[in-house]
Amino acid sequence: MSKKSIADVDVANKTVLMRVDFNVPVEDGKITDDLRIRMALPSIESVLDRGGRLVLMSHLGRPKSKPQAEFSLAPVAARLDELLNVPVTFALDTIGPDAEAKVSRLAAREVVLLENLRFDAAEQAGDAQFASKLARYGDIYCNDAFGTCHRDDASMCAVPLAMAGKPRVVGFLVAKEIQYLSEVIRNPARPFLAILGGAKVSDKINVIKNLLTICDRVLIGGAMAYTFSLAEGGRVGKSLVEPDKLDFAQELMAQGGPKLLRPSDTNCATSPLPESQKIIVANGDIPDTMAGFDIGPQTMQRFEQEILKAKTIVWNGPMGMFEVPPFDAGTKAVAIAIVAATANGATSIIGGGDSAAAIEQMNLADKVSHVSTGGGASLSMLEGQEFHSVNLLDDA
Ligand code: 3PG
Repeated sequence: MSKKSIADVDVANKTVLMRVDFNVPVEDGKITDDLRIRMALPSIESVLDRGGRLVLMSHLGRPKSKPQAEFSLAPVAARLDELLNVPVTFALDTIGPDAEAKVSRLAAREVVLLENLRFDAAEQAGDAQFASKLARYGDIYCNDAFGTCHRDDASMCAVPLAMAGKPRVVGFLVAKEIQYLSEVIRNPARPFLAILGGAKVSDKINVIKNLLTICDRVLIGGAMAYTFSLAEGGRVGKSLVEPDKLDFAQELMAQGGPKLLRPSDTNCATSPLPESQKIIVANGDIPDTMAGFDIGPQTMQRFEQEILKAKTIVWNGPMGMFEVPPFDAGTKAVAIAIVAATANGATSIIGGGDSAAAIEQMNLADKVSHVSTGGGASLSMLEGQEFHSVNLLDDA
């Protein structure tokens, strides 16, 4: 992909309509993780510093196609206002009178953030009329919403289509994410290693299939390892498994052969509670009264050795129930090994979602090459998919 970037267009005295992904976690009106807002700042600041006007649009959560206070972008406007040197105006609607008035009064170096696009069913329906009303706000369209690039929502596809003839570009975040999640992966320094975890095999079948074709090794951890274990006749006790996905697990094991490395031991317990009885057992030997909650110490060592040999590393999904110590040990061991490999020159890419949250929690995010802001979007890239929302933008 070589798409025209926001840096390539003259924005002075022009209005840039920028789709961002401000879908951040909000609890009781407070943002609990503002990473996605901070990651959009380089594109935002680049427009403002060069004398542009900026209309920002995003969704937040999955509201029921009508205004719902808990999904308002108002707290995001307040946070953005704190992060920028210029005041942020918040519009109470998207294509309604408030937004129209506020956008029409915009001066150079000023910002308006529209209310949640998904308060209107037209956004997720990809509605062309809704899109053409949004499109009127901008002289330039910019997509910097990496986390939403796998969606064909109106603001992602129909708006840039409605703006044909005007510059339609990617922002710095989208460009960086695509560079790591697509270009580095297509041309990896070897050995190329993937570490995949998380609860369900079903979420990652296509990711595992694709990575098995391009990686030298694929390490499997997390609860999904128990589905693989069950598929080869192992005892999994009360572990979280997907009995209807045993065929897929068998197929992936056959496809992967020795490339696919699975845990050799597991940390299991009667429950994830601190007072529960915990033991380490061999993979496939979990007592009936217990469930596996993390990879065991021998697996951690094997995984560390593999990680330290790698020159390109992709990690998606925790190794165990990392929110509940001591079942965070496997995820921590993997993160620490990835940081060490990165210090030795490896390129390390952390997929969004839980593994990004884990590396942030450990304060190690700045010690890896790239932490993705996309959950579903980064998985789609690892599946080898392309995004319509990006393909339709101007080529460089
Ligand atoms: C995400 O958090 O993955 C993106 O913001 C997309 O949100 P969605 O899954 O609700 O479309």
